[in-house]
Amino acid sequence: MSQIETVRLHNGLEMPLEGFGVFQVRDKEECKRAVLDAIKAGYRLIDTAASYTNEDAVGEAVREAISEGICTREELFITSKMWVQDMENIDMARAAIDASIKKMGLEYIDLYLLHQAMKDYFSAWRAMEEAYEAGKLKAIGVSNFYPHVLTNFCETVKIRPMVNQVELHPYFTQEDALETMKYYDVVPEAWAPLGGGRYNPFENEMLKEIAVKHNKSVGQVILRWNVQRGVVVIPKSTHKERIIENVNIWDFALSEDEMKQISSLDQGYVGTAVKHFDPEFVRMCNQRKIHD
Ligand SMILES: NC(=O)c1ccc[n+]([C@@H]2O[C@H](COP(=O)([O-])OP(=O)(O)OC[C@H]3O[C@@H](n4cnc5c(N)ncnc54)[C@H](OP(=O)(O)O)[C@@H]3O)[C@@H](O)[C@H]2O)c1
Repeated sequence: MSQIETVRLHNGLEMPLEGFGVFQVRDKEECKRAVLDAIKAGYRLIDTAASYTNEDAVGEAVREAISEGICTREELFITSKMWVQDMENIDMARAAIDASIKKMGLEYIDLYLLHQAMKDYFSAWRAMEEAYEAGKLKAIGVSNFYPHVLTNFCETVKIRPMVNQVELHPYFTQEDALETMKYYDVVPEAWAPLGGGRYNPFENEMLKEIAVKHNKSVGQVILRWNVQRGVVVIPKSTHKERIIENVNIWDFALSEDEMKQISSLDQGYVGTAVKHFDPEFVRMCNQRKIHD
Protein backbone atom coordinates (compact mmCIF):
# COMPACT_ATOMS: atom_id res chain seq x y z
CA MET A 1 0.00 0.00 0.00
CA SER A 2 1.24 3.49 -0.82
CA GLN A 3 1.57 6.00 2.00
CA ILE A 4 -1.55 7.88 3.18
CA GLU A 5 -0.88 11.58 2.60
CA THR A 6 -1.38 14.18 5.34
CA VAL A 7 -2.73 17.71 5.60
CA ARG A 8 -1.37 20.38 7.94
CA LEU A 9 -3.87 21.94 10.37
CA HIS A 10 -3.56 25.66 11.16
CA ASN A 11 -1.87 24.82 14.48
CA GLY A 12 0.85 22.89 12.61
CA LEU A 13 -0.38 19.38 13.42
CA GLU A 14 -0.29 16.85 10.55
CA MET A 15 -3.59 15.00 10.02
CA PRO A 16 -3.89 11.91 7.78
CA LEU A 17 -6.06 12.56 4.71
CA GLU A 18 -7.73 9.20 5.22
CA GLY A 19 -9.04 7.50 8.33
CA PHE A 20 -11.50 4.90 9.55
CA GLY A 21 -15.01 5.68 10.87
CA VAL A 22 -16.96 3.59 13.39
CA PHE A 23 -20.46 5.13 13.33
CA GLN A 24 -23.14 2.50 14.08
CA VAL A 25 -20.59 -0.18 14.99
CA ARG A 26 -22.34 -0.78 18.29
CA ASP A 27 -21.12 -4.27 19.11
CA LYS A 28 -17.97 -3.76 21.19
CA GLU A 29 -16.14 -6.86 19.97
CA GLU A 30 -16.95 -6.09 16.35
CA CYS A 31 -15.79 -2.49 16.81
CA LYS A 32 -12.53 -3.53 18.43
CA ARG A 33 -11.84 -6.09 15.69
CA ALA A 34 -12.67 -3.62 12.89
CA VAL A 35 -10.40 -0.92 14.35
CA LEU A 36 -7.57 -3.44 14.73
CA ASP A 37 -8.11 -4.61 11.13
CA ALA A 38 -7.99 -0.97 10.03
CA ILE A 39 -4.76 -0.19 11.90
CA LYS A 40 -3.18 -3.36 10.49
CA ALA A 41 -4.30 -2.26 7.00
CA GLY A 42 -2.46 1.05 7.44
CA TYR A 43 -5.10 3.50 8.73
CA ARG A 44 -3.78 5.76 11.49
CA LEU A 45 -6.79 8.08 11.95
CA ILE A 46 -9.78 6.58 13.81
CA ASP A 47 -13.03 8.56 14.00
CA THR A 48 -15.46 7.89 16.85
CA ALA A 49 -17.82 10.02 18.95
CA ALA A 50 -19.30 9.96 22.44
CA SER A 51 -22.70 9.36 20.82
CA TYR A 52 -21.49 6.21 18.99
CA THR A 53 -21.04 4.65 22.47
CA ASN A 54 -17.95 2.77 21.29
CA GLU A 55 -15.14 5.04 22.53
CA ASP A 56 -14.17 2.28 25.00
CA ALA A 57 -13.87 -0.35 22.22
CA VAL A 58 -11.81 2.05 20.09
CA GLY A 59 -9.52 2.71 23.06
CA GLU A 60 -9.07 -1.03 23.65
CA ALA A 61 -8.13 -1.62 20.01
CA VAL A 62 -5.70 1.30 20.05
CA ARG A 63 -3.97 0.12 23.21
CA GLU A 64 -3.76 -3.42 21.81
CA ALA A 65 -2.27 -2.20 18.52
CA ILE A 66 0.36 -0.23 20.44
CA SER A 67 1.22 -3.09 22.81
CA GLU A 68 1.53 -5.48 19.84
CA GLY A 69 3.99 -3.03 18.24
CA ILE A 70 1.84 -2.41 15.13
CA CYS A 71 2.18 1.35 15.62
CA THR A 72 3.06 3.93 18.25
CA ARG A 73 0.64 6.28 19.98
CA GLU A 74 2.35 9.21 18.24
CA GLU A 75 1.58 7.73 14.82
CA LEU A 76 -2.13 7.52 15.58
CA PHE A 77 -4.66 10.32 15.16
CA ILE A 78 -7.66 9.58 17.37
CA THR A 79 -10.78 11.69 16.90
CA SER A 80 -13.88 11.87 19.06
CA LYS A 81 -16.82 14.27 19.39
CA MET A 82 -18.81 15.92 22.15
CA TRP A 83 -22.52 15.14 22.03
CA VAL A 84 -25.25 17.82 22.25
CA GLN A 85 -26.40 16.64 25.70
CA ASP A 86 -23.05 17.79 27.13
CA MET A 87 -23.13 21.19 25.44
CA GLU A 88 -25.53 22.78 27.91
CA ASN A 89 -22.85 24.67 29.84
CA ILE A 90 -19.06 24.86 30.27
CA ASP A 91 -18.92 22.49 33.24
CA MET A 92 -20.82 19.75 31.42
CA ALA A 93 -18.55 20.23 28.41
CA ARG A 94 -15.42 19.99 30.57
CA ALA A 95 -16.74 16.76 32.09
CA ALA A 96 -17.54 15.36 28.64
CA ILE A 97 -13.96 15.90 27.42
CA ASP A 98 -12.56 14.15 30.49
CA ALA A 99 -15.09 11.31 30.09
CA SER A 100 -14.03 10.69 26.46
CA ILE A 101 -10.34 10.60 27.41
CA LYS A 102 -11.08 8.25 30.32
CA LYS A 103 -13.33 5.92 28.28
CA MET A 104 -10.62 5.53 25.66
CA GLY A 105 -7.95 5.02 28.29
CA LEU A 106 -5.70 7.55 26.58
CA GLU A 107 -3.69 10.46 27.91
CA TYR A 108 -4.88 12.80 25.17
CA ILE A 109 -7.13 12.90 22.13
CA ASP A 110 -5.65 14.10 18.83
CA LEU A 111 -8.80 15.83 17.56
CA TYR A 112 -12.02 16.58 19.42
CA LEU A 113 -15.07 18.00 17.65
CA LEU A 114 -18.31 19.68 18.64
CA HIS A 115 -20.70 17.17 17.03
CA GLN A 116 -23.39 19.73 16.17
CA ALA A 117 -23.92 23.50 16.30
CA MET A 118 -26.61 23.05 18.92
CA LYS A 119 -27.36 24.02 22.55
CA ASP A 120 -24.76 26.39 24.05
CA TYR A 121 -21.98 25.47 21.64
CA PHE A 122 -19.98 28.61 22.39
CA SER A 123 -19.62 27.64 26.08
CA ALA A 124 -18.75 24.09 25.03
CA TRP A 125 -16.09 25.52 22.71
CA ARG A 126 -14.51 27.46 25.59
CA ALA A 127 -14.13 24.16 27.45
CA MET A 128 -12.47 22.71 24.33
CA GLU A 129 -10.12 25.72 24.08
CA GLU A 130 -9.11 25.18 27.73
CA ALA A 131 -8.48 21.46 27.18
CA TYR A 132 -6.50 22.26 24.03
CA GLU A 133 -4.33 24.74 25.92
CA ALA A 134 -3.84 22.15 28.69
CA GLY A 135 -2.64 19.57 26.09
CA LYS A 136 -5.53 17.15 26.64
CA LEU A 137 -6.69 17.78 23.08
CA LYS A 138 -4.04 18.21 20.37
CA ALA A 139 -6.49 19.84 17.94
CA ILE A 140 -10.09 21.03 18.19
CA GLY A 141 -12.76 21.36 15.56
CA VAL A 142 -16.44 21.27 14.73
CA SER A 143 -18.87 19.13 12.79
CA ASN A 144 -21.99 19.88 10.79
CA PHE A 145 -21.29 23.62 10.80
CA TYR A 146 -22.90 24.99 7.63
CA PRO A 147 -21.19 28.02 6.00
CA HIS A 148 -23.13 30.81 7.74
CA VAL A 149 -22.74 29.12 11.16
CA LEU A 150 -19.03 28.43 10.61
CA THR A 151 -18.45 32.03 9.50
CA ASN A 152 -20.13 33.51 12.57
CA PHE A 153 -18.24 31.03 14.77
CA CYS A 154 -14.82 31.81 13.26
CA GLU A 155 -15.52 35.54 13.58
CA THR A 156 -16.28 35.12 17.30
CA VAL A 157 -14.10 32.49 18.99
CA LYS A 158 -10.54 32.88 20.33
CA ILE A 159 -9.17 29.70 18.74
CA ARG A 160 -10.58 28.98 15.28
CA PRO A 161 -11.60 25.35 14.65
CA MET A 162 -8.96 23.35 12.82
CA VAL A 163 -11.40 20.93 11.15
CA ASN A 164 -15.07 20.88 10.11
CA GLN A 165 -16.50 17.40 9.56
CA VAL A 166 -19.53 17.55 7.28
CA GLU A 167 -21.40 15.36 4.81
CA LEU A 168 -19.33 15.34 1.60
CA HIS A 169 -19.63 12.88 -1.29
CA PRO A 170 -20.35 13.12 -5.03
CA TYR A 171 -24.11 13.50 -4.37
CA PHE A 172 -23.54 16.38 -1.92
CA THR A 173 -20.39 18.17 -3.03
CA GLN A 174 -20.87 21.35 -0.92
CA GLU A 175 -18.49 23.53 -2.95
CA ASP A 176 -19.71 26.65 -1.07
CA ALA A 177 -18.91 25.03 2.29
CA LEU A 178 -15.40 24.18 1.07
CA GLU A 179 -14.91 27.83 0.03
CA THR A 180 -15.82 29.05 3.52
CA MET A 181 -13.54 26.48 5.16
CA LYS A 182 -10.66 27.52 2.90
CA TYR A 183 -11.23 31.18 3.81
CA TYR A 184 -10.80 30.39 7.54
CA ASP A 185 -8.09 27.72 7.04
CA VAL A 186 -10.39 25.01 8.41
CA VAL A 187 -9.65 21.53 7.00
CA PRO A 188 -12.74 19.81 5.53
CA GLU A 189 -13.42 16.25 6.61
CA ALA A 190 -16.07 14.12 4.89
CA TRP A 191 -18.57 12.02 6.75
CA ALA A 192 -20.40 9.43 4.65
CA PRO A 193 -17.67 9.67 1.97
CA LEU A 194 -19.14 6.53 0.33
CA GLY A 195 -22.67 7.93 0.55
CA GLY A 196 -23.34 6.38 3.97
CA GLY A 197 -25.21 3.37 2.55
CA ARG A 198 -27.48 5.67 0.48
CA TYR A 199 -27.50 6.88 -3.18
CA ASN A 200 -26.17 3.52 -4.45
CA PRO A 201 -23.00 4.92 -6.10
CA PHE A 202 -21.75 1.37 -6.67
CA GLU A 203 -24.30 0.85 -9.47
CA ASN A 204 -23.69 4.19 -11.21
CA GLU A 205 -22.57 3.56 -14.81
CA MET A 206 -20.31 6.62 -15.08
CA LEU A 207 -18.53 5.77 -11.80
CA LYS A 208 -18.18 2.13 -12.89
CA GLU A 209 -16.61 3.23 -16.17
CA ILE A 210 -14.05 5.46 -14.42
CA ALA A 211 -13.30 2.65 -11.95
CA VAL A 212 -12.65 0.13 -14.74
CA LYS A 213 -10.35 2.61 -16.49
CA HIS A 214 -8.16 2.88 -13.38
CA ASN A 215 -8.49 -0.79 -12.43
CA LYS A 216 -10.06 0.34 -9.14
CA SER A 217 -13.47 -0.09 -7.46
CA VAL A 218 -16.22 2.57 -7.42
CA GLY A 219 -15.59 3.01 -3.69
CA GLN A 220 -11.92 3.74 -4.31
CA VAL A 221 -12.80 6.23 -7.07
CA ILE A 222 -15.18 8.29 -4.94
CA LEU A 223 -12.82 8.31 -1.97
CA ARG A 224 -10.01 9.43 -4.28
CA TRP A 225 -12.25 12.20 -5.70
CA ASN A 226 -12.64 13.69 -2.21
CA VAL A 227 -8.97 13.47 -1.15
CA GLN A 228 -7.92 14.93 -4.48
CA ARG A 229 -9.94 18.07 -3.62
CA GLY A 230 -8.22 18.26 -0.22
CA VAL A 231 -10.96 16.61 1.83
CA VAL A 232 -10.14 14.10 4.59
CA VAL A 233 -12.17 10.88 4.22
CA ILE A 234 -13.16 8.42 6.97
CA PRO A 235 -14.94 5.46 5.30
CA LYS A 236 -16.55 2.90 7.60
CA SER A 237 -16.76 -0.84 7.02
CA THR A 238 -16.94 -3.88 9.25
CA HIS A 239 -15.67 -6.11 6.40
CA LYS A 240 -11.92 -6.70 6.38
CA GLU A 241 -11.68 -6.90 2.58
CA ARG A 242 -13.50 -3.54 2.21
CA ILE A 243 -11.37 -1.97 4.97
CA ILE A 244 -8.29 -2.93 2.91
CA GLU A 245 -9.90 -1.92 -0.40
CA ASN A 246 -10.89 1.54 0.90
CA VAL A 247 -7.36 2.45 1.96
CA ASN A 248 -5.82 1.56 -1.39
CA ILE A 249 -6.44 4.91 -3.02
CA TRP A 250 -2.94 6.36 -2.84
CA ASP A 251 -1.46 4.92 -6.05
CA PHE A 252 -3.64 6.52 -8.73
CA ALA A 253 -5.04 9.92 -9.71
CA LEU A 254 -8.23 11.08 -11.41
CA SER A 255 -8.00 13.46 -14.35
CA GLU A 256 -9.51 16.95 -14.14
CA ASP A 257 -12.25 15.81 -16.48
CA GLU A 258 -13.06 12.78 -14.31
CA MET A 259 -13.16 15.01 -11.21
CA LYS A 260 -15.73 17.24 -12.97
CA GLN A 261 -17.81 14.28 -14.16
CA ILE A 262 -17.99 12.91 -10.61
CA SER A 263 -18.92 16.33 -9.18
CA SER A 264 -21.80 16.54 -11.66
CA LEU A 265 -23.69 13.92 -9.59
CA ASP A 266 -24.37 16.63 -6.97
CA GLN A 267 -28.01 16.80 -5.81
CA GLY A 268 -27.45 19.56 -3.24
CA TYR A 269 -29.19 19.74 0.14
CA VAL A 270 -32.44 18.47 -1.40
CA GLY A 271 -30.93 15.02 -1.85
CA THR A 272 -29.49 14.64 1.66
CA ALA A 273 -30.92 12.17 4.17
CA VAL A 274 -29.81 14.04 7.31
CA LYS A 275 -31.67 17.34 7.39
CA HIS A 276 -29.79 19.77 9.62
CA PHE A 277 -32.14 22.64 8.75
CA ASP A 278 -35.20 20.69 9.91
CA PRO A 279 -36.47 21.75 13.38
CA GLU A 280 -37.58 18.14 13.96
CA PHE A 281 -33.96 16.95 13.55
CA VAL A 282 -32.64 19.69 15.86
CA ARG A 283 -35.25 18.76 18.50
CA MET A 284 -34.34 15.09 18.17
CA CYS A 285 -30.62 15.83 18.71
CA ASN A 286 -31.40 18.12 21.67
CA GLN A 287 -33.45 15.41 23.31
CA ARG A 288 -31.13 12.47 22.64
CA LYS A 289 -29.42 11.30 25.82
CA ILE A 290 -26.31 9.14 25.64
CA HIS A 291 -25.78 8.96 29.41
CA ASP A 292 -27.68 9.71 32.68
N1 LIG B 1 -20.07 14.03 12.24
C1 LIG B 1 -21.18 13.43 11.90
O1 LIG B 1 -22.30 13.92 12.13
C2 LIG B 1 -21.10 12.08 11.23
C3 LIG B 1 -22.24 11.52 10.63
C4 LIG B 1 -22.10 10.29 9.99
C5 LIG B 1 -20.86 9.66 9.97
N2 LIG B 1 -19.77 10.22 10.58
C6 LIG B 1 -18.43 9.58 10.54
O2 LIG B 1 -18.11 9.30 9.19
C7 LIG B 1 -17.83 7.90 9.04
C8 LIG B 1 -18.23 7.44 7.65
O3 LIG B 1 -19.59 7.68 7.40
P1 LIG B 1 -20.70 6.51 7.35
O4 LIG B 1 -20.25 5.39 8.19
O5 LIG B 1 -22.02 7.13 7.66
O6 LIG B 1 -20.74 6.14 5.81
P2 LIG B 1 -19.71 5.64 4.67
O7 LIG B 1 -18.39 5.37 5.23
O8 LIG B 1 -19.87 6.58 3.55
O9 LIG B 1 -20.40 4.29 4.22
C9 LIG B 1 -20.47 3.18 5.03
C10 LIG B 1 -21.35 2.15 4.31
O10 LIG B 1 -20.72 1.75 3.09
C11 LIG B 1 -20.46 0.34 3.13
N3 LIG B 1 -19.14 0.15 2.50
C12 LIG B 1 -17.93 0.44 3.03
N4 LIG B 1 -16.95 0.19 2.16
C13 LIG B 1 -17.54 -0.29 1.04
C14 LIG B 1 -17.05 -0.73 -0.21
N5 LIG B 1 -15.75 -0.71 -0.47
N6 LIG B 1 -17.96 -1.16 -1.12
C15 LIG B 1 -19.27 -1.17 -0.86
N7 LIG B 1 -19.80 -0.74 0.30
C16 LIG B 1 -18.94 -0.31 1.24
C17 LIG B 1 -20.51 -0.05 4.59
O11 LIG B 1 -20.95 -1.37 4.75
P3 LIG B 1 -20.14 -2.50 5.62
O12 LIG B 1 -19.78 -1.90 6.94
O13 LIG B 1 -21.14 -3.59 5.72
O14 LIG B 1 -18.95 -2.86 4.78
C18 LIG B 1 -21.56 0.93 5.14
O15 LIG B 1 -22.87 0.47 4.87
C19 LIG B 1 -18.65 7.29 10.18
O16 LIG B 1 -18.30 5.94 10.44
C20 LIG B 1 -18.38 8.26 11.29
O17 LIG B 1 -17.10 8.02 11.85
C21 LIG B 1 -19.88 11.42 11.19
